[in-house]
Amino acid sequence: MSSAGIRDVATLAQVSVGTVSNVLNRPDAVAPATRQRVEHAIEQLGFVRNEAARSLRAGRSRTIGLLVLDVANPFFTDVAAGAEAAADASGAVITLYNSGQSRERESRHLAHLEEQRVQGVLVTPVDTRNPRLDRLVERGTPVVLVDRGADRADRCSVSVDDVRGGSLALEHLLSRGHTRTAFVGGPLDVPQVIDRYRGATRAVEAQTGATLSLTETSGLTVEDGRRAGELLAAMPASRRPTAAFCANDLIALGLLQAMTAAGLRVPGDLAIVGYDDIYYAAAAAVPLTSVRQPRELLGRTAAELLLEEINDDGLVHAHRQVVFEPELVVRASSDVRRPAARKRAPKEAG
Ligand code: RIB
Repeated sequence: MSSAGIRDVATLAQVSVGTVSNVLNRPDAVAPATRQRVEHAIEQLGFVRNEAARSLRAGRSRTIGLLVLDVANPFFTDVAAGAEAAADASGAVITLYNSGQSRERESRHLAHLEEQRVQGVLVTPVDTRNPRLDRLVERGTPVVLVDRGADRADRCSVSVDDVRGGSLALEHLLSRGHTRTAFVGGPLDVPQVIDRYRGATRAVEAQTGATLSLTETSGLTVEDGRRAGELLAAMPASRRPTAAFCANDLIALGLLQAMTAAGLRVPGDLAIVGYDDIYYAAAAAVPLTSVRQPRELLGRTAAELLLEEINDDGLVHAHRQVVFEPELVVRASSDVRRPAARKRAPKEAG
């Protein structure tokens, strides 16, 4: 690696060190001809800036940590894309961390982020009350919760009204004539999951004669959905729910796979509704009805809140909890009306 430093670049390009720094950090603030001269000198000398040294001098890196629950879930990659769009505009860099829904890994990543002196942290916490989140904030590292509402005024958050989302899903299934329904998802200590379940329960309780059973899963993955589907498929048809609302699309896709493997039809034997409306929902073998979350907008808004707090001089930023509305997207996996239950013929008198 070249040993050329920023001063060598400035000398070769015949500009000040400050101009080279502007080309690196705020290229739009430099006249194009000057910027090209500096970029040519950087290329010629093979100069690579020393981010570690810069962070030491500034006391903070340009990095924003994004800590998600499950990096294999396209929901979070869409959130990350939105966060990166906001970070790029401000010259910050997003580094992605995955807790895998493990409290231990979450704490380990939060400790690492503190050691790295990142500018701020975006997090979908496994445990909203993780003391390391409070320690980060107490020691001056702003934190914004993503896909999770903050239950305290001294923290920003960006989320969707998951209770409303759960009600939308069940109101839709009830409107299609389903009365024996199931909620598939877990664990129930994940606030988004319990809120979706609460919303579904609220809708069912408003409908006379309707029921909502619970098939709790240990996680929010396709495999969790497949395992739940094997349980439902093994039930006698007379007792099996005719519709299932899943805590997210990955569970719904796993459930769809299991029903198909068992020779059961979707939606004929089991209507399915998911949550998030990730790309694979519409692309599924039976296009999936889903409760859409504005994924990129969640990420972008969270990053904008964090950057406002990072760049704040204490006069502008006010902590706020932003809540977006969910939207139901109806597709083939649930878009069929069940035949009304046949009324029993009145018993013959006598
Ligand atoms: O954050 C928990 C879940 O909510 C994730 O699995 C994602 O799908 C979102 O819907």
